[in-house]
Amino acid sequence: MLTRRQVNTGLMVGALAGAPGFAAAQAGKTISLPAPRTEGGVSLRAALQKRQSIREFADRPLPPPLLSDLLWAAYGINRPASGDRTAPSWRHAAVIDIYVAMADGVWLYAPKEHELRLHVAGDLRVQTGMQDFVGKAPVDLVYVAQGDEMGSVGEEERRLWATADTAFIGQNVYLLAAAEGLATVFRASVPRTQLAASLGLAAQQFITAAQTVGYPRS
Ligand SMILES: Cc1cc2nc3c(=O)[nH]c(=O)nc-3n(C[C@H](O)[C@H](O)[C@H](O)COP(=O)(O)O)c2cc1C
Repeated sequence: MLTRRQVNTGLMVGALAGAPGFAAAQAGKTISLPAPRTEGGVSLRAALQKRQSIREFADRPLPPPLLSDLLWAAYGINRPASGDRTAPSWRHAAVIDIYVAMADGVWLYAPKEHELRLHVAGDLRVQTGMQDFVGKAPVDLVYVAQGDEMGSVGEEERRLWATADTAFIGQNVYLLAAAEGLATVFRASVPRTQLAASLGLAAQQFITAAQTVGYPRS
């Protein structure tokens, strides 16, 4: 059975496919990510030593195994029996979705299936930020909260806790990037209103932050 979130996503793809200014989204198109590497690599201490924000990116795409590792580290499932994730979440609600903007489209990360689902076809990377590197780096992660899954708390608390959830994910990305020699920078600088429109987000969804990832420019 489809979750409410999956239904919303399907509707958005359908709506955007007919909207002016958008390349037709190919509803149902998915990318199965290879299994993530969940063992080995550099030590946590070594990754902490290297964690930093880097804003100069090569335009080289990330190969699928690295994209897989990145998304799993960010917010993948680390306890398959329960479906729990690599980052904690307010009230165990896991309200953050990761939209992955790449040259060929914006994809929604589905942690359970560990796959990417096409949300909007076309290159929207430049729309995810105001800094010049956003359109050049291969991946811009856009963190989106499902506000209607936050129960009875008001708008201010929704923003606060959704942003806290996002920050944990962002740090996971920083550490994976440090461990793999990638460049990344977490960004509050996001044109939220325009980007929400470009992504066809529903009224209850809101963008908390974005994060650019790629190879450092050598
Ligand atoms: C909440 C938050 C928002 C940020 N927004 C931006 C941003 O919009 N653009 C940017 O280039 N860096 C942004 N950064 C990165 C910070 O500038 C960076 O973490 C800080 O300068 C310290 O550098 P370091 O990460 O290398 O330790 C943000 C960091 C945080 C935690």
